[in-house]
Amino acid sequence: MTRPNDKSVQALQWTGNSLKVLDQRQLPETTFYDEYRDAAGVTEAIATMRVRGAPAIGIAAAYGAVLSVIRHHAEDPANWRQKVAADMDLLATSRPTAVNLSWALEQMKALLNQPLTNPPAEIIEYAQKIHADDIAANTKMGELGADVLKGAKGVMTHCNTGALATGGYGTALGVIRSAYRRRPINIYAGETRPWLQGARLTVWELAQDSIPVTLCADSAAAWLMKSGAVDWIIVGADRIATNGDTANKIGTYSLAVLAKQHGVKVMVVAPTTTIDWSIESGDQIEIEQRHQSELLPACYIKDDSMVSAWNPVFDVTPVELISALVTERGVILNPAEQGIRGLKDDI
Ligand code: MRU
Repeated sequence: MTRPNDKSVQALQWTGNSLKVLDQRQLPETTFYDEYRDAAGVTEAIATMRVRGAPAIGIAAAYGAVLSVIRHHAEDPANWRQKVAADMDLLATSRPTAVNLSWALEQMKALLNQPLTNPPAEIIEYAQKIHADDIAANTKMGELGADVLKGAKGVMTHCNTGALATGGYGTALGVIRSAYRRRPINIYAGETRPWLQGARLTVWELAQDSIPVTLCADSAAAWLMKSGAVDWIIVGADRIATNGDTANKIGTYSLAVLAKQHGVKVMVVAPTTTIDWSIESGDQIEIEQRHQSELLPACYIKDDSMVSAWNPVFDVTPVELISALVTERGVILNPAEQGIRGLKDDI
């Protein structure tokens, strides 16, 4: 499989008969790969965020379907499809917001609905193609996004959108990587409370590539923008509606509102697999709520008898606040005015 840099971090490794998943809950202290041999295990890995990031969970789900086919086809070569369908339904329940997950499963289902001579081999090849296509899309978006940044001196990113969150290289972080390779720019990463994807993952991932980064508290974003240090906020996406409204990590909407106030531009970087062509606006996107155990301990609260937590982990940024949408099929400046339907491949 083609990789932009063979030494780059790999969230997912296909071994031929199992899926190795880098446990992102343990980063940056420990680099540990769990190994999965069935779809239930992969479902659990996604739900518990051992693997996270929209494209990465789509690819993981595709390999989960592969593991299901390998197992059930070996057990019963005549009647394996029903069990695989049940496993795919299970994989689809693992997380609700990122559309890449259901997109990848739909791709796998479409293949399985065709007559196959050697189902395990053919489905492995197809999952690897989904994985490789994601890396290629990221490499392309990196260059396209870096072109848009031109003379920018500083950028701020949110969450982790790098190799850890994708097949490799990254979406928003891919643009930042490509821009930095052309000439050094100042990179700010928001900590991304409460799970700390920015502080724990983005900072670690950039360090692997010897790219310097400045971490700031989420609550410092307005003051950072006011200081004039950043020209662009650059983020990824979990689901983009056909009007361009974009669901991404909680806090993205806040950054976009602040950016408008301070004349800072907002770039969303996402492959077209993140566009949900079936919905018209962000109002139709299900926002995942995660358990309060991911918030209260981070705030040193051990006794939850008198306190509960509201923990939505995504929000929706209205398209009016987005200055540029970068995809592998091209860049749309000012998507609120231009529209995004031109990115659809069958029109
Ligand atoms: O909850 P997470 O860590 O899976 O959320 C990830 C994000 O919100 C990313 O910004 C998004 O998936 C794009 S990753 C290329």
